[in-house]
Amino acid sequence: MKIGFFDSGIGGITVLYDTLKILPNEDYIYYADTLNVPYGNKSKNEVRKYIFNAIDFIIKQEVKAIVIACNTATSIAIEDLRGKYNIPIIGMEPAVKPTIEKNEDRSKRVLVTATALTLKEEKLHNLITSLDKEHVVDLLPLPGLVDYSERLEFSESKVLPYLEEQLLKYDVSNYETVVLGCTHFSYYKDIFRKLFSPDINIIDGNYGTANNLKKILEEINQLNDGCSHIDFYNSGLKVEDKAELDKYSRLFKRLDSIC
Ligand code: SIN
Repeated sequence: MKIGFFDSGIGGITVLYDTLKILPNEDYIYYADTLNVPYGNKSKNEVRKYIFNAIDFIIKQEVKAIVIACNTATSIAIEDLRGKYNIPIIGMEPAVKPTIEKNEDRSKRVLVTATALTLKEEKLHNLITSLDKEHVVDLLPLPGLVDYSERLEFSESKVLPYLEEQLLKYDVSNYETVVLGCTHFSYYKDIFRKLFSPDINIIDGNYGTANNLKKILEEINQLNDGCSHIDFYNSGLKVEDKAELDKYSRLFKRLDSIC
């Protein structure tokens, strides 16, 4: 059986990329909700409707587990999805908790970046309030990075000025860690690195999520040992068009080039 990956768009490919390194013998379907991306600037109710439509579709493809490779969808729907469907549903690990706990130099700060919708979520606020005793965490929505990545715009000349502008009111030398709390942002790790001091930690939850998936499949004895294959779906339509398949290949190449 296959493993389903779901995202509003192309962000989840960054999670699939890390998953393929540790689970290279699985069959995957990758579902991008291309008709409704971006999620991060929409209302919670609207986005929840899109998520449940997509997961209903993915479940029908007979998958053994689903990865919600989208921080926004994870933060607003993961518990309800687990309540509704009877297979393992793995969400994104925002990595905020270990980051705040590990923040070694207490005079240094942690910058958590994500979509506006993720940053508004009560769960994240409660988590940060309970951990951030020294008030070292800053929150920064970066909707432009979702738009740039969906347009396959990875050039430094376009993206660096956008990030510089968003960071104008922050003293970048003050940060020990930047958390990428949106899977779309992982395409820009190299550009983030240019803006902060050389020893900055830039972390996302991708590897943690991939590891969780592997652990769960091991526990339920559902690991495959075949050849890997990926079918892509854009909002429920199987991608057969060469140009669209090429787009997905380019994304893997982009990730190869920055890792
Ligand atoms: C978006 O669709 O706005 C991005 C969703 C996410 O990966 O958090």
